[in-house]
Amino acid sequence: MSAFPKTQALMARGCAFLGSETAILCGAMSWVSERNLVAAMSNAGGFGVIACGAMTPELLDAEIAGTRALTDRPFGVNLITMHPALFDLIGVCEKHGVSHVVLAGGIPPKGSIEAIKAFGAKVIVFAPTLALAKKQFRGGADALVIEGSEAGGHIGPISTSVLAQEFLPELAAEHLVFVAGGIGRGDMIAAYLEMGAAGVQMGTAFACASESIAHPDFKKAFFRAKARDAEASVQIDARLPVIPVRALKNKGTEEFAAKQREVALLLDQGSVDMGEAQLQIEHFWAGALRRAVIDGDVESGSLMAGQSVGMVSAEEPVADIIARLLRESEEALTRR
Ligand SMILES: Cc1cc2nc3c(=O)[nH]c(=O)nc-3n(C[C@H](O)[C@H](O)[C@H](O)COP(=O)(O)O)c2cc1C
Repeated sequence: MSAFPKTQALMARGCAFLGSETAILCGAMSWVSERNLVAAMSNAGGFGVIACGAMTPELLDAEIAGTRALTDRPFGVNLITMHPALFDLIGVCEKHGVSHVVLAGGIPPKGSIEAIKAFGAKVIVFAPTLALAKKQFRGGADALVIEGSEAGGHIGPISTSVLAQEFLPELAAEHLVFVAGGIGRGDMIAAYLEMGAAGVQMGTAFACASESIAHPDFKKAFFRAKARDAEASVQIDARLPVIPVRALKNKGTEEFAAKQREVALLLDQGSVDMGEAQLQIEHFWAGALRRAVIDGDVESGSLMAGQSVGMVSAEEPVADIIARLLRESEEALTRR
């Protein structure tokens, strides 16, 4: 990595925190971020993160052990805050001495940050607003990911460029902030590093790496897609707040609209409450993503992808993707 001195100097804080050679995280992607991609990422000098998603504690236990067998470098585990067994999953991370836990999907429930820190792991959180970010740092979070609406998967309403301008000047001097969403080239990494980011998190760029177990048809759909094909889902019913998901448009997009109408009707009839309604929506996504990633059902499965998908055109090893990103970042910083 010594070939990229300007980039590495700006990434030094992020690297020290992650224990990696370069401060590029591969964001957790359900079904995609399993042992092979995670270990490949960490072995290539980046930082891989296991996506726990809806896994049971037993499955997570096996996945961490499997990842450890493939790499002796640090990696993280991403836990979804609304998982009903969140504290058991934290226990599994403790058992394995996981060094970094990412809490995604909402504000961490009471006691979760404390439980992770109690066994010496670092906690990485997300925050939709500056006020909530500050609150989480006060509550013990060690680092923050700001993720803009260009990203693949579940998204917030604000673009990465605006989040970066709001959060970095306020937080970056004192805190570690990683920027995610819409990053496809090293030029963009350089820009966020110059604004004070400790590093970046990317998903779409790594989803179809050679080491990713995603189905060949899932990968083909990515290579063919343009930025405009990665659309945010639309909320159908005002009473049923649905977190938008960015994915490649296909038949599944329409099926999701139908699913929302079906769940809204159940709400009308009083046969489900709001919590159950939202859970049904989330289960829909988890199932649809699995169908696309594992079974290669690119018609009705969910092809979660960010807008940077237009810059992904071929299968490359993780190490080559990282090397290209670092080279582009270094060239951009050298041109300044
Ligand atoms: C296929 C896919 C699945 C994802 N699943 C998750 C997930 O399970 N948990 C999570 O926190 N983020 C998830 N994400 C978001 C990524 O971790 C990452 O933050 C995002 O991809 C970054 O933006 P980018 O796609 O523009 O690079 C997913 C993204 C994709 C593309």
